[in-house]
Amino acid sequence: DGTAAPRLTVIGTGYLGATHAVCMAALGYEVLGVDVDPGKIELLRSGQVPFFEPGLPELLVKAQESGRLHFTTSLVEAAEFGDIHFVCVGTPQQPGSYAADLSHVEGAVTELARHLRRRALVVGKSTVPVGTAARLAELVRNTAPAGDAVELAWNPEFLREGFAVDDTLHPDRLVFGTESAWAEQQLRAAFAPVIAQGTPVVVADLPTAELVKVAANSFLATKISYINAMAEVCEATGADVHLLAEALAYDDRIGGRFLRPGLGFGGGCLPKDIRAFIHRAEELDVAQAVAFLREVDAINQRRRARTVDLVRELVGGDLAGTKVAALGAAFKPDSDDIRDAPALDVAAALHRAGALVTVYDPVAMDNARRVHPELTYGTDALQAATGADVVVLLTEWTQFREIDPEVMGAVVNRRRVVDGRHALDPAQWRAAGWEYRALGRN
Ligand code: UGA
Repeated sequence: DGTAAPRLTVIGTGYLGATHAVCMAALGYEVLGVDVDPGKIELLRSGQVPFFEPGLPELLVKAQESGRLHFTTSLVEAAEFGDIHFVCVGTPQQPGSYAADLSHVEGAVTELARHLRRRALVVGKSTVPVGTAARLAELVRNTAPAGDAVELAWNPEFLREGFAVDDTLHPDRLVFGTESAWAEQQLRAAFAPVIAQGTPVVVADLPTAELVKVAANSFLATKISYINAMAEVCEATGADVHLLAEALAYDDRIGGRFLRPGLGFGGGCLPKDIRAFIHRAEELDVAQAVAFLREVDAINQRRRARTVDLVRELVGGDLAGTKVAALGAAFKPDSDDIRDAPALDVAAALHRAGALVTVYDPVAMDNARRVHPELTYGTDALQAATGADVVVLLTEWTQFREIDPEVMGAVVNRRRVVDGRHALDPAQWRAAGWEYRALGRN
């Protein structure tokens, strides 16, 4: 029945799934969120989001109060409930390899399919190597008791952490990878309110839909590494990459977004997605086509090492015994995510080089402590900076941007700052007597 609103399940309530479930319920759909982790489900049931995301906790509670959003650990229940099943489980990088680990996706889809006894659409949202969806479509048909009545589609997700709610409710575009008109119609019904806002819809085949996501993230990573490569050239020539980026950005064919130089990209997506793409391209015998992504990755890694060098240079060559205040641990502001976080990588490298590192981050402290127990953690930025020989800004939280250099200058041992994110005003900090250094700036 194409007229009634479909009932939705969201399988996997991590970053992507929890956001998707809450937002779909906010849009008016009946939604059942599913996860294998009973702890996560308990938290969500009690109205708590297991990670930091502005706006999401409020929307979760509202959606639960509406009676449209529920959570379960049972895929049997999900199979009975849903007309459309969104698969939102993670595809992390495999340890010791560039390849994506597809075991969660394969496991969730297989387990769900076993219980699908009526017409339903399984929709993959996870980021996967191109070709995965076609394989899963076959698997679903062969596994589901309803057989060919169950179809698979792909609907990649482009949300950014820190803007997850807005990105989900008001996406730039929707991409529907489908194998039939029926699947497309189902997806249009599942996103009717979003489409009604005028959101562009690109309807494609399965491999194109999978590839859009990987291509988008690769492009974004390339843009960041491009400006950071220019920063390396700037360092060798006395040019200023900050001004260079500003001037480039006025050409709207280039644009200023994702052209912010600094410590580079991290997180659970960009780094692992480009590596998985390199790996997949090798399997497909088109390794050359994306060989540049190896350089993108290498440039990005060099920024971390270079930041450590900059700190070393600023303190006169030897980090042993140097007191460092490391401001930031999350891979970017407005997130508590420390996966492949450049900030923590640099803090840990400074520690290994003998520095006495005190880290402060507004929300990622618990996560950071778990992974790097060897570091010291401060209670706030000023406390972390007290007695420091050098302050290193690693994640550009607004509260760090707004630090008064006079106030911080009063508590440090030496007024020396390395701005890893081009987040501070050098003129203001220099006027307050600070030695200011930033990557790609003289
Ligand atoms: C990224 C993409 O932006 C989303 O579109 C995509 O949906 C998501 O991955 C995903 O695949 O799930 P996210 O990882 O949340 O989103 O973070 P971004 O805002 O893209 O930032 C990634 C990293 O790049 C951060 O470490 C950030 O500090 C860095 N960055 C970003 C720069 O160094 N310079 C810039 O100009 C922009």
